[in-house]
Amino acid sequence: MAKSPPSFRCAECGATHAKWSGRCDACGAWNSIVEESPLSKVPGSGLGGAKGKLITLSALDTKEAPPKRAKAGMDELDRVLGGGLVPASAILVGGDPGIGKSTLLLQAAAAFARKGLKTLYISGEEAASQVRMRAARLGLTDAPVGLGAETSLRDILTTLEAERPDLVVIDSIQTMWSDRVESAPGSVSQLRAAAHELVSFAKRRGTAVILVGHVTKEGQIAGPRVIEHMVDTVLYFEGERGHQFRILRAVKNRFGPASEIGVFEMTGAGLAEVSNPSALFLSERGQPAPGSAVFAGIEGTRPVLTEIQALVAPSSLASPRRTVVGLDSGRISTILAVLESRCGIPFTGLDVFLNVAGGMKVIEPAADLAAAAALLSAREDTALPADMVIFGEISLSGALRPVGQAENRLKEAAKLGFSQAIAPTGTKADGTTGMSMRKLGDLVTFTGEMFGAG
Ligand code: TYD
Ligand code: MG
Repeated sequence: MAKSPPSFRCAECGATHAKWSGRCDACGAWNSIVEESPLSKVPGSGLGGAKGKLITLSALDTKEAPPKRAKAGMDELDRVLGGGLVPASAILVGGDPGIGKSTLLLQAAAAFARKGLKTLYISGEEAASQVRMRAARLGLTDAPVGLGAETSLRDILTTLEAERPDLVVIDSIQTMWSDRVESAPGSVSQLRAAAHELVSFAKRRGTAVILVGHVTKEGQIAGPRVIEHMVDTVLYFEGERGHQFRILRAVKNRFGPASEIGVFEMTGAGLAEVSNPSALFLSERGQPAPGSAVFAGIEGTRPVLTEIQALVAPSSLASPRRTVVGLDSGRISTILAVLESRCGIPFTGLDVFLNVAGGMKVIEPAADLAAAAALLSAREDTALPADMVIFGEISLSGALRPVGQAENRLKEAAKLGFSQAIAPTGTKADGTTGMSMRKLGDLVTFTGEMFGAG
């Protein structure tokens, strides 16, 4: 049989290439393309020849008990998991180095162990003594967690087969290596092999497996497409350096709503849960100042209020700055364009800085109107009323589009002492929230009413 040609894969994005080159066409990363060992081929393969077993088919209405979930007792974590840990599930927890993944998962492992789950924590990055030191600092030494420091996948799987735990944490998947794959640890082939072995162990033995994955500079776990589709749940642990808040966000979950978030605070004694994130994100808000708008958002199943801050200043640059943190910069450019061409409010010659207070990331389009309000408030140097929340999507025509779960947004705002809201016409919220509502049809009306501009 002819030897199959070598194949090349980008270690950053997982794209395949016919030949080696210095730069990946798909993601633009330099020096990331590596040769892969091809999958072993059986001579004369092709599945036509020998017969396999008949698989069992069942009707769609077959009754099945919902998965029995184990709760850690850490509400923020349990909610992001979709209501607790599902047996035999594979979970990937990604995040920047140093963000607190090991801390979170050691705390989670201890919490599950205390609830009676047989739990193992395998560290491939730190020595057992280092993990013990951290556990002591976090006050977790009494939790019955089995601790191992190992990177050999074969030894780990042998141990898992012998121990049959309910939960195993692998920190991190990038340090694991399989002796069946020739490339170096951390390479896409190793990553794929390790994840595949561990995920199939999870499915075979009913063990829940949590894999820790580091994220590369571009915000993706090395070889992301390779692992993300193999696991049931993908969680990202994010936060700004210099901020205490950490957000655990479900980006994929076969057992619960995606985009659910859990909020934590990094303290001297590990991660503390934040059960009322709105209060936390708004706690630094002082007197009403120009450029500040409160957005009533929804994260997963929960309403979260955040403050959007804008600063607009004359620019000395030929192409003025557009610095956006915590919001989608593409959407902000669109909003600036709509303000200019539909409302006649240009930002030419002005530097624009926009961010979400507290290091929160807002991805909902419903934040459009609050972002526009912050921008206008900064540009006109006029503060918005301190007791006002805003939400709504802006379309390219300048019309305001209603968004979902208005009732929930308003309830949360009322709970936190806000008494007026601005929302698009057609917003369904005729409940008893006790808020004074202004419903507006387009951005021109909004700018006219709020700032007398446009
Ligand atoms: P770590 O969990 O090691 O991050 P990761 O596994 O994602 O790389 O967290 C490291 C950071 O967390 C480190 O900068 C110190 C900080 N930290 C605290 O502030 N308090 C604590 O109790 C612990 C354990 C860590
Ligand atoms: Mg770590």
